[in-house]
This record gives sequence, C-alpha cells and structure tokens, in this order.
Amino acid sequence: MDKTDPKTNPGNGGETHQQATGKTSTLTTQQGGPIADDQNSLKAGARGPGLIEDHILREKLFHFDHERIPERVVHARGFGAHGYFETTESLEDVTSADIFQRKGERTPAFVRFSTVAGSKGSADLARDVRGFAVKLYTKEGNWDIVGNNIPVFFIQDAIKFPDLVHSVKEEPDRGFPQAQSAHDNFWDFATLMPESMHMLMWQMSDRTIPRSFRFMEGFGVHSFRLVDKDGKSQFVKFHWKPKQGMQSVLWDEALKINGADPDFHRRDLWNAINQGDYPEWELGLQIFDDEFAEKFEFDVLDATKLIPEEQVPIRIVGRLVLDRVVSNFFAETEQVAFCTQNIVKGIDHSNDPLLQGRNFSYLDTQLKRLGGPNFTQIPINAPKCPMHHFQQDGHMAMSNPTGRANYEPNSWGEEEGGPREDPARGFESYPEDVSGPKVRERSETFADHYSQARQFYISQTDTEQQHIINAFAFELSKVKTPVIRERMVSHLLNVDKQLAEKVAEKLGINPLPKPADAAMPTRDDLPVSDKLSILKN
Ligand code: HEM
Repeated sequence: MDKTDPKTNPGNGGETHQQATGKTSTLTTQQGGPIADDQNSLKAGARGPGLIEDHILREKLFHFDHERIPERVVHARGFGAHGYFETTESLEDVTSADIFQRKGERTPAFVRFSTVAGSKGSADLARDVRGFAVKLYTKEGNWDIVGNNIPVFFIQDAIKFPDLVHSVKEEPDRGFPQAQSAHDNFWDFATLMPESMHMLMWQMSDRTIPRSFRFMEGFGVHSFRLVDKDGKSQFVKFHWKPKQGMQSVLWDEALKINGADPDFHRRDLWNAINQGDYPEWELGLQIFDDEFAEKFEFDVLDATKLIPEEQVPIRIVGRLVLDRVVSNFFAETEQVAFCTQNIVKGIDHSNDPLLQGRNFSYLDTQLKRLGGPNFTQIPINAPKCPMHHFQQDGHMAMSNPTGRANYEPNSWGEEEGGPREDPARGFESYPEDVSGPKVRERSETFADHYSQARQFYISQTDTEQQHIINAFAFELSKVKTPVIRERMVSHLLNVDKQLAEKVAEKLGINPLPKPADAAMPTRDDLPVSDKLSILKN
C-alpha cells in the first residue's frame, strides 16, 4: 500500500475525509478550535509513537472516557417523550393548584415510561411493573406524578424498599438472573412479606406484559391531598386512563418479541409519535374526604390497597397528549429527574410511610446519579416558570443569583435585594393535626393482606384468571427451593382456594400446605438455609 496515496490513506486527504463545505459546520474542539484532521493522531513520524501534546486526541479520549453515568438504581430502562396536559375541568372547588384552575389551559409535560428491575440494556417485554412518571411544568413550579402502571405496591413501609429491590435484582454471588420474577431471592422475599400478596396478583396478571406503553394505565398509587384556597383538604388518588384502551401480549408472545426486538416498546412509542398518532391519557381523580377515609375498610395510607372505583368514582379532569419525541435521548430521557417531593401549592403529601421515604430517596439518588446539586438546572429538569432563589454554587452552577444579595432578610432595596417571600402565593403545607408516641410500629389498619388480592382475582375473566395461574406456575417452576414454592401456595390458599390448588397441581405440590399465617414471620419461624433442599435443575 502506498502510504502517500490519498485514496488509500485518508489521513493524507483521501476520500473519507469529512471536510466542511459551504453548508456544513466546521468540526471543532470543545474549546471551539476548528479541527483540520480528525482521522489521525499526532505522532513523531507516520509510524512513530504518539505525542502527548496532541490536545485534540487527548480532549476526545478524555470526554469519551467519561460518557457513562450511573444508571438509575431502579427503573434504569426507560423511554421518554414530550407533550402537554390540558385541563378539561376546573378544579377550583377542591384545589388551589394553578394547573387546575382554568379549563382548556395547556401545560407542557414530559413523560418517562420504564421497567423497574432490568438494567439499562435489558429487554422491553420483561414481566415487570412499568413506571409511568409525569413531569408537569406548571406556571407555579414543576409537579411530578411519579407513578406506575399498577395501582398498588409490594410494600407498605419505605424501610423495606432496599430489601425488595435487592431481592428483585441479580443475586449478588452469581450476578444473575436478570428476570425479576423467575428468581429464588425474589420469591423468597415476597413470600416472607405477606403485604406483597395483592401486588403479586397484579404482577402475575397480563398488566405486567403490556403490548406497548401506549396501552397502559398509570397510577400515582399513594393517597395525596388536595388543598383548596381556604386551606380545606381532601384526599386524592391519581389515575391515567389510556384513550387507546388497554392491551397486553401473551407470555409466549413476550418471549418472542424480546428475542426479535428487545426495543419493541421504545420503537413503538417513537414510531407512533413520529407518525402523528399521538398517544393520549385522561387524568382521573378519586377524591374523598377524611370521613370516608376513616370509614373505609382499609387504610388509605397503605400503598398495598386501592380504593374501588365503585366506592369512589373517578372524576376526569384533564388529558395528557404525547406529541414530540426527544431530540437527544441522554440529555432528556436519561437526565430527567422525577421526584415525589416536587409538588405544587394546592397538592400535598399524605402520611403514607412509603411516600414519606420516597420523598427522601429520589433527590438523594439523583444527587449522585446526576453529579451534584445543580441537576435541576439541566433544561429537562428546569421549571418553565420564573425562578428566583438564593441557592448558589456547587458543581456546574449555571444560574447563580445575580446582584449583591444572596441571603434574606436583607436591607437592600428592590433592585439589589433579590426575591422576597409571598405568603399569598407561596406553598403551604396542610396543617394536619399529628400527635403520638415515637414508635417503630405498623398500624393494625395495615394488617389485612389478602382481601384485596382476592377481590382482584375474582374480578378477572376466566381467561385472565388462567393467565394468572399460568404465570404463577411458570415463575415458581423456575424457583429451585421447594419450601419457597410451597410458601407461595400457602399464601394463595388465603387468596383463593381454587387458584392455590391449580398452581399447586401444575407444580406437583401434593398434599397442599397449610394456609399461611398472615403475620410477617419472625426469625424463629424461618427455615435455616442449610436445611433447605434445593432442586438441581
Ligand atoms: C425511580 C426509589 C417506590 C415509581 C426510582 C429511583 C429511586 C426510587 C431511587 C431512581 C430515581 C432516579 O435515579 O432518578 C423508590 C423508593 C420507593 C419507591 C425508596 C419506596 C419507598 C416507588 C413506587 C412507585 C415508584 C411506589 C410508583 C408509584 C418510580 C418510577 C421511577 C422510580 C416511575 C422512574 C422515574 C424515571 O422514569 O426516571 N424510585 N421508589 N417508586 N420510581 Fe421509585
């Protein structure tokens, strides 16, 4: 090969050189210096060693070396899109939230759908809960409804969340399995936590293998509060209802799709939006007062329970339309930071112990994931309303306070003194009466773990029930520890006897175990691990 021939050696000005013409912009370094040759590093002689002075090579490698950030500790695999929320009914009567005051008003929105357990590179059609996180850029600050496509959750108290997620993710010694449910650790934990029974029924249903993100419901899960302009408050649960209807695939289809196209869900959303087939959801509210909450047969602060729509009908108050794909996946979908503590005036938290823990966890993890306290300044996270505060500095500070004052109160006038509080416009917490001894306890009102699991099962059609039976039998057949399988059947006996019998039959469990004790087992009740028999295959 002739090393001086430009045709065979692009570094000498051959055909593969990407040269700027009148229309294209010139390639530059990050410092803005135009680059003449992006094909060859600087060397001492064409075959000689590289020169450390090559600032172009060093800058390019340095930046590449730092491209990765930690993936989300859960919900790592997701896909986002832009759109808007339109208020279709004024909620002036129940909340002072600005977004709900004017019928017909549109608020920009960003939504990220996700699976929970898999890593960033996992497949879309895993049997898993889907995240449904909505950021609403309201005129009075960002409001995030960080929900899922299932109306209840596995656990009641945030202190169990790390255990739940550890059990769902890869086993630490072997680094597999990735599949969340086909998993001894997961089923071990879940069967030791009777409170997860209701969620397990939903998880084994068709809901966890949706046909696409466009065909799923979304739920805020927890009870939140609405607060009106006079400070009066009621509870609320948030629901997203897909205009497209709900559709799922069969498990066999899910397996095939995962093999053929692990990006099936993200491709579906990307294509639909780009073709102008904008997916749409209605926002529905279940609003109920403290009196209802007290009389309701379950605790409205327990995230493993829902409120049946027959008891509190859903009031449709708006619609969410997704009409624009992201222009950069990393900048928008990866860097977006949803947080349950992002609420606005007129909305407030409830005392749900899961929600209270979440309010700490999101900001804490994002501080690390996004590299410091200024991630709220990244465009996808920044509010679209005016913002004035005295928070300053830290890594990558882009919008420090301007002028002299960076504290308040101060003696400087309007020009120099900076922003001031506004009691009339500002956020106020609902002044709920709270008292009680400081205890580590769970309320007795959180104790029934089976009734709603049963209600869910019997509300399903025969075909749907059969899918649930098949899913339990399939997932448990992957569990190698018989005592865990039997423990699950013993819980199912408390949910529905026929369901338990059918699952037991498919697993070859005979005779049936005794129905499980509803209480959380103590250490003494647990089998010691070296006494567990393990199946070889
Ligand atoms: C993501 C914690 C329960 C929905 C996350 C992340 C953390 C977390 C640390 C990663 C956030 C990030 O890196 O940006 C927790 C804790 C929980 C909990 C501690 C319970 C104590 C729930 C529940 C739901 C939920 C009950 C649904 C109602 C989501 C969603 C995401 C997420 C949708 C992904 C947000 C996105 O798309 O970026 N959670 N979570 N989580 N969580 Fe939770």
